[in-house]
Amino acid sequence: MSATHILGISAFYHDSAACLLRDGEIIAAAQEERFTRKKGDAAFPRHAVAYCLEAGRITAADLAFVGFYDKPILKFERILETYLGTAPRGFGSFLMAGPLWIKEKLFTDRQLREDLGFGGAILYSEHHESHAASAFFPSPFEEAAFLTMDGVGEWATASFGIGRGNDIEIFKEIHWPNSLGLLYSAFTYYTGFKVNSGEYKVMGLAPYGEPKYVDLIYRELMDLKEDGSFTLNQRYFNYLSGLTMTNGAFDRLFGGPPREPETRLTQREMDLARSVQVVCEEVMLRMARTVHRETGLDRLCLAGGVALNCVGNGRILREGPFKELWIQPAAGDAGGAVGVAQLAWHRHCGKPRAVTPGKDGMRGAYLGPEYTEAQIEDYLRSVGATHRKLERGELLQTVARYLAEEKIVGWFNGRMEFGPRALGARSILGDPRSPRMQAQMNIKIKFREGFRPFAPSVLRERVSQYFELDTDSPYMLLVAPVRKQRQIPMGEVADRLWGIDKLNVVRSDIPAVTHIDYSARIQTVSRETNPDYYDLLLEFERLTGCAVLVNTSFNVRGEPIVCSPADAFRCFMRTHLDYLVLGPYLLEKAAQPEWKEQGDWQREFQLD
Ligand SMILES: [Fe+2]
Repeated sequence: MSATHILGISAFYHDSAACLLRDGEIIAAAQEERFTRKKGDAAFPRHAVAYCLEAGRITAADLAFVGFYDKPILKFERILETYLGTAPRGFGSFLMAGPLWIKEKLFTDRQLREDLGFGGAILYSEHHESHAASAFFPSPFEEAAFLTMDGVGEWATASFGIGRGNDIEIFKEIHWPNSLGLLYSAFTYYTGFKVNSGEYKVMGLAPYGEPKYVDLIYRELMDLKEDGSFTLNQRYFNYLSGLTMTNGAFDRLFGGPPREPETRLTQREMDLARSVQVVCEEVMLRMARTVHRETGLDRLCLAGGVALNCVGNGRILREGPFKELWIQPAAGDAGGAVGVAQLAWHRHCGKPRAVTPGKDGMRGAYLGPEYTEAQIEDYLRSVGATHRKLERGELLQTVARYLAEEKIVGWFNGRMEFGPRALGARSILGDPRSPRMQAQMNIKIKFREGFRPFAPSVLRERVSQYFELDTDSPYMLLVAPVRKQRQIPMGEVADRLWGIDKLNVVRSDIPAVTHIDYSARIQTVSRETNPDYYDLLLEFERLTGCAVLVNTSFNVRGEPIVCSPADAFRCFMRTHLDYLVLGPYLLEKAAQPEWKEQGDWQREFQLD
């Protein structure tokens, strides 16, 4: 009997993606932005779909079902009701959003068929059901509680319930307009960052600030209950009726207008970031305790955009009641494509779910395109790049040596990651022991704000030697402190430094990955999911005694992570990367021919 293929799609909101299942197993998944090079591309994911079908060596005609990650008609109902509830104030918003909805979203079914050339059954699941399914089905648990939190789907903004065997059941939801994701996004907007992508920056900025506004948030913005449920005071927000997140009343409450994007960050933005982060963590912890109480289960799965708040996740793990935590690596809307496909397989087709304890179904998130040696070599020849091929052992030793010499290396290896984090397939690597590495990588390579921390990759077996963590964190979604013994207390002088200047003070023996509050966003690397990256870390450890590398995504600011050898080479030539590894090929920057840029690319990407 031939295999059953199911294609999952998330699209038309932000971060469109596709995922292909073969007999329930995830065999390919990718975000559209990687192919179109438009960050967070929300268009129908035709490139991601084409890739998934190609990876499965099938055509759309071979698909048993297509699943779509939300119910456009329910979403439309919310938009319409919101409009009616706030008219005439909401009229401008409706005029802007309306035609787009009608054109692109309401007729999703027809569009899916036309774009795919697919005549079979299209199944729709609700947005949070897709998130919940993406959290539970690929998890290594036979039975677990799940918690989903995001901006908004149709009506729900958070949900929890139980996954058991091959099904999930949602117990409770929090509904629009009360949304933890939107509260965070409101502060993202107000501190001058881009909603839906700048939330990471707010989280990274938070440790520089004081939680000065926490009381004000609880008093005026939010009525938070003991069980983690809450209502938001809509007097201060503008997302119901307008096209911005906050309004004049919000400005008056926090003493001024939003920061203009790209202007200088002040202590005020840092204090605001810290305050909303503290509130977010508190809500996450309260929700987690409630989920534990109401489900009586000791394992928790997380998804939804708020589950990318790895500082909050780390606190749930350390302070929450759960024994084990698993977080979907594509916790944002891209992951909905995985969720709906698995719902189609387990619920609609009634297929059982096989669980291997300790092993999840995401294959280390290495679910994207890979390129053969011949494809890489053809490309390199076509652009006249100077390159040499090394056998594996020599390549790993050479790269480890360069890294130990404080060189910065672009590392392109195997299948691209699914989800927002680079995990050693499309990564830029550096030496975490170097006190200069953080500033160098931020400014010379990534062209991004100097305050942003970098994350460590560490051999799984060594994680507890470096960090206050002794569990898997394969998807870089947990933050934990650097071990006490490795910390270097800040002296009095350093204590008096203001804001970002604090960053230049060495605060551990791995300073490049130690944030100013001694925390680190950790990726544990195991040989099973990424043998080349694992062995590179091992080689680096042999050479230096340090089993950690700086791992940042292979892109520049505002650009999606690189996908193809051409994207990687372009990024290599545009930045001050010293070396590039493309599969078995090693390229040295100094040996390359002159790079001729087309157009003003820096301007293009700086508008993040
Ligand atoms: Fe979502």
